[in-house]
Amino acid sequence: MGASISRRSRNRSSRGKRTSDQRDTCSHSSISPSVKGTTIHGRVYHDVESSVYFFPMDEIEQDRLHGQHFGLKALFNGNLLAPVRDAVDLENHCHVLDVGCGPGSWLLDLATSHPNSKFVGVDIVDMFPSTIKPPNTEFHVANILDGLPMFADNSFDLVQMRLFASVLKGDQWIKTLTELKRVCRPGGMIQLLEVDYKVTGNQFVNKFTSKLVNIMASRGQDGEAAKKLAPMLTQAGFINPHTDHRPIAGGK
Ligand SMILES: C[S@@+](CC[C@H](N)C(=O)[O-])C[C@H]1O[C@@H](n2cnc3c(N)ncnc32)[C@H](O)[C@@H]1O
Repeated sequence: MGASISRRSRNRSSRGKRTSDQRDTCSHSSISPSVKGTTIHGRVYHDVESSVYFFPMDEIEQDRLHGQHFGLKALFNGNLLAPVRDAVDLENHCHVLDVGCGPGSWLLDLATSHPNSKFVGVDIVDMFPSTIKPPNTEFHVANILDGLPMFADNSFDLVQMRLFASVLKGDQWIKTLTELKRVCRPGGMIQLLEVDYKVTGNQFVNKFTSKLVNIMASRGQDGEAAKKLAPMLTQAGFINPHTDHRPIAGGK
């Protein structure tokens, strides 16, 4: 399991934090129609042709993502890696974007404890919270493969994208990261977290993961994207990548 963070370099004309007026140039207006989904063997999957993402989108999946969120939070001792905690002061009116936020577990967790900041989630399907939704959160349906035209350049202090090896084809990473750099303000941070699908464990785990990696490859996905986060961030133009690894015991 690997998590990488990186900083967007400052340019000469935009040093320091943005003023509140500049923050207001962030426009959050476009909402696409919701994806209805296709049912296969009782599970509901998105039906967006351009996306190779293969997990379901139903309530069972939303529960799984919520549970997984708290597992990942425990594994990495919190929702933010230390360099992000140091650089982004969530008490101080930050704008945070979570790309592919699913049911919004990470955003809701942070939004509740940081009421002064604003938390925005986008996902290709609307599995967003409706009843428990803090006032400092908002959600939009968006396909990252089409970019994020609803957000102005330099809109966010922190951008997160988590568990996207099952979302992106190997050759879609750089374009996607470049779009995230566009919406991240100069000096802002990006945080990524990926599973290295080539985990080793008992015989069953080894067989399962090697089949999974082969299936991902047949769909154009890269099961080893976790190992490449730092170089991909650099290629997309971010600076000072920092990577943190956590071993997980498969099959125990
Ligand atoms: C593995 S889940 C991770 C969810 C969330 N980031 C988390 O950590 O719990 C991947 C998410 O990406 C969304 N997704 C898939 N393809 C997408 C796309 N092309 N654009 C935006 N979101 C997408 C899925 O609907 C799903 O919610």
